[in-house]
Amino acid sequence: MLKIQNVHKVFSKGTVNEHYALQGIDLELKTGEFVTLIGTNGAGKSTIMNLIGGDILPDKGRIYLDNEDITYEKEHKRARKIGRIFQNPMLGTAPDMTVEENLAVAYSQSKKGLFGIGIKKEDSEFFKKCLEDFDLGLEDKLKTKVGLLSGGQRQAIALLMSTISTPKLLLLDEHTAALDPSAAEKVMNITNKIVREKNITTLMITHNINQALKTGDRTIMLHKGKIILDLSGKERENMTVSDLLKLYENNSNDIFDNDRMILS
Ligand SMILES: Nc1ncnc2c1ncn2[C@@H]1O[C@H](COP(=O)(O)OP(=O)(O)O)[C@@H](O)[C@H]1O
Ligand SMILES: [Mg+2]
Repeated sequence: MLKIQNVHKVFSKGTVNEHYALQGIDLELKTGEFVTLIGTNGAGKSTIMNLIGGDILPDKGRIYLDNEDITYEKEHKRARKIGRIFQNPMLGTAPDMTVEENLAVAYSQSKKGLFGIGIKKEDSEFFKKCLEDFDLGLEDKLKTKVGLLSGGQRQAIALLMSTISTPKLLLLDEHTAALDPSAAEKVMNITNKIVREKNITTLMITHNINQALKTGDRTIMLHKGKIILDLSGKERENMTVSDLLKLYENNSNDIFDNDRMILS
């Protein structure tokens, strides 16, 4: 359903700062597949997501979503098909709007612009029901401004907003990395629940290797702009973090430099 074909990205081309961020990425995701993406700092993980999301354009290669070539499609057009959550909880929600207003805006986009004449009671009840499932106490905060909520609560609302109309694809760029461990766990549980219940094809970047191996169906490792590992099925099930680091060292010819990645 998502097909990335021979994608290359060079930053600051032709200058002293020229940097080859992606060097021929080929990747296919099946419908409903939940894939985790790992790699050391600067490996090109966010660059892949930014290319899929349309913030930047590739120097070479093609990107297809459900057989539609979206390589050069405008970012706002893709946004209707692709849900995105970033590391910073401030990015996904509007702080001066209430929880219910934020959700209504996202919901109305799925119903093609019916927003503007207040929030219907039935919609409000629907939002409340969705939030009850999260177990973050958000169901009593529908009239609270989002700016007053915790990072975890904001990420949970951002998740609900970006999936309320069931996107074709969900992109998560370290969306729990800025949260404390307990909030991160809750947001991860909500993520799993939504992705599985709605069967949303998902690509999630994480710096936690153990989480990457335990979450979803498949794990991909990026190194210096290339995919060096693609694990699924039994091989992935049996993989430990130390096995994975050995594989990394074999496939990359690099010593694993223990930077931001969490290993356990
Ligand atoms: N807009 C940009 N301009 C110049 N260089 C960039 C830009 N975005 C990313 N890079 C560089 O490309 C490389 C890959 O970045 P990124 O995809 O953000 O890595 P990751 O998310 O894996 O840590 C890094 O060396 C980064 O500095
Ligand atoms: Mg990144």
